[in-house]
Amino acid sequence: MKKKRKKKVKFTIYFYILVIVVVSIFLFVFLNSDGKEENKTNNNNTNTVEKPTVKEKTEEEIKLEKLNNINEKLDFFKMEYLDRYIAYKEKNPNLDDETVVVYVNIGLDQNFYTNVKDSPFKHTNTVLANKYYFLGKDYVPKNLVYINSAYQSGGKQMTKDAAVAFEKMAAAAKEQGYTVRATSTYRSYDYQAGLYERYAANDGKAKADTYSARPGYSEHQTGLAVDVDNAYSSYTSFGNTKEFTWMKQNSYKYGYILRYTKETEFITGYMNEPWHYRYVGVEIATYIHEHPMTYEEYYVRFLDK
Ligand code: DAL
Ligand code: ZN
Repeated sequence: MKKKRKKKVKFTIYFYILVIVVVSIFLFVFLNSDGKEENKTNNNNTNTVEKPTVKEKTEEEIKLEKLNNINEKLDFFKMEYLDRYIAYKEKNPNLDDETVVVYVNIGLDQNFYTNVKDSPFKHTNTVLANKYYFLGKDYVPKNLVYINSAYQSGGKQMTKDAAVAFEKMAAAAKEQGYTVRATSTYRSYDYQAGLYERYAANDGKAKADTYSARPGYSEHQTGLAVDVDNAYSSYTSFGNTKEFTWMKQNSYKYGYILRYTKETEFITGYMNEPWHYRYVGVEIATYIHEHPMTYEEYYVRFLDK
């Protein structure tokens, strides 16, 4: 009897082990096939229901593509000028995208003296006065001083920094055998108004605009510009003198740049003026000497942000 009972217990244990094994196998097979089934379903979904949708491009993205997304490379790109960039590029298909942005930022897509702005950075060495930025009737630079009489033609004033730098430049020129003399420096609004009116009366406004700033727009009103001669010939012949060559090679060392050339007339709106120099400080003048560009281009690339 005891033996029989033992046998029954043994049988029960074996039975349970068998049940566990069978259930485990069943579960393993079932779960595995279920997973595969799920994957299959997912794949099907990818092919049918969940087709990747092509994101609709915004109008702005389409426009930026026309400029080859140059906005991603230029920190002076102005989104509010987007339509102007595109219009300017269409009119000037030979320009690269960066140049288009620079020129539109300067304002070249609009006529001179239209859409003009009050110039920022007043009373600093970086102030810009041109046919897009005005100083206004009341602007008088602070710190005007007379230039040492040895280096000017009489009663000429500039701002302190510009005057000191000019004196150093003229002294260096003299030491090397050249004469660089200031003949026109700071000009008040009223003085410029008189000059422009006289020129316009003689030559007509259109012609006068090519060589004279309208009152309120002259770089001379900043106290940072100077017209020079060599004391022997008229300032209008300065471009033919050895002093001009010296200035081209050395003026940047004293913070001065040549402002109006024949090649850049389409940017500045002024004819070639080999006699007209602008003080911008040594750092900017050196940069411009090493990377030739107008002050307008420098301004929109580095200051107008
Ligand atoms: N001659 C320069 C452009 C002036 O009038 O300011
Ligand atoms: Zn001048």
